Amino acid sequence: LPGVHLVGAGGYLPEQVVTNSDLALRVETSDEWIRERTGICQRHLAAPHETAAYMGTRAAQAALDDAGLQAADVDAIILATSTPDQAFPATAARVQAALGVPGGFAFDLAAACSGFIYAMASADAFIRNGQARTVLVIGSEVYSRILDWSDRSTCVLFGDGAGAVVLRAGEPGTRGILSTHLHADGGFGDLLYVDGAVGRPDRPGTLRMQGREVFRHAVAKLSASVDEALAANGLAHADVDWLVPHQANKRIIDAMGRKLGLPPERVIVTVDRHANTSAASIPLALAEAMRDGRIRRGDLVLMEALGGGMTWGSALVRM
Ligand code: ACO
Repeated sequence: LPGVHLVGAGGYLPEQVVTNSDLALRVETSDEWIRERTGICQRHLAAPHETAAYMGTRAAQAALDDAGLQAADVDAIILATSTPDQAFPATAARVQAALGVPGGFAFDLAAACSGFIYAMASADAFIRNGQARTVLVIGSEVYSRILDWSDRSTCVLFGDGAGAVVLRAGEPGTRGILSTHLHADGGFGDLLYVDGAVGRPDRPGTLRMQGREVFRHAVAKLSASVDEALAANGLAHADVDWLVPHQANKRIIDAMGRKLGLPPERVIVTVDRHANTSAASIPLALAEAMRDGRIRRGDLVLMEALGGGMTWGSALVRM
């Protein structure tokens, strides 16, 4: 079986930056409340032309450039999103055309904030069983279009953006994706959901969340997830070089860092500047830390996420 190597990463953020104080002009909130409860200081919000396909294409191109590869090298695109441009074609197929990828296959995947982990696991399986050699894994989200802008308990938490990585078949061995672990429990579906859909005549829907309950599940389930990933590989907490968590809330991120015994500088944090970009948050954070030289070849990186579904999971990667 081939190894599955992570050979490039890239991101895209909308130009428009909206601070907490800007939001305080729209809803009854404050910079202080948002910072203290979430660690968020600002978020990027998409302009009308910045759709999931548009941003996903730019993030994917940046990831290909980082990998030193061309569109023609790609033979599969898996795009995680809860905010596709259209019900169909899949946003992944739009990205394929925009990049000029000449063949292969492309599809979208819906697992809310866990979407990137689900997409990594899927790409890993396709590469291992020989159905693809070079896969673009993208998370691209415009939650600004599914937020209830009059609900202060949710609208302050999210931002828009896209991130992507290139996974490639390589030498088997100790480098690359060591394992992925996925979970879902639809019994908790009503803790975090969108109360509508493209297919519903009455409403496109906006996001609803029981924040406190989601918080409780996130800390418990992600803790178990982290242990599961390390145990599966016979590794200990101390072996992890970097935690690249889904960026929902600084308090959840800090809890995971403490659980692993990692110093804060070994935990990649973007939630302060990006807020929660759902499926885009992990590849955006990873791309930033690879670009600025923090994460280097040989480092052991643990990624984890929890989101609507409820879905959660992890991926352990030797860079
Ligand atoms: N500004 C000011 N006050 C607010 C705001 C706001 N934006 N939002 C809520 N409040 C008020 C509430 O009305 C409440 O007031 P009350 O006590 O008078 O009723 C008070 O603040 C406390 O509200 P809680 O919801 O209990 O606050 P909590 O400390 O739980 O923080 C938060 C809320 C930040 C949403 C937290 O629960 C959280 O982060 N949960 C996890 C949510 C999350 O991360 N979701 C995404 C994960 S999954 C995914 O990524 C899709």
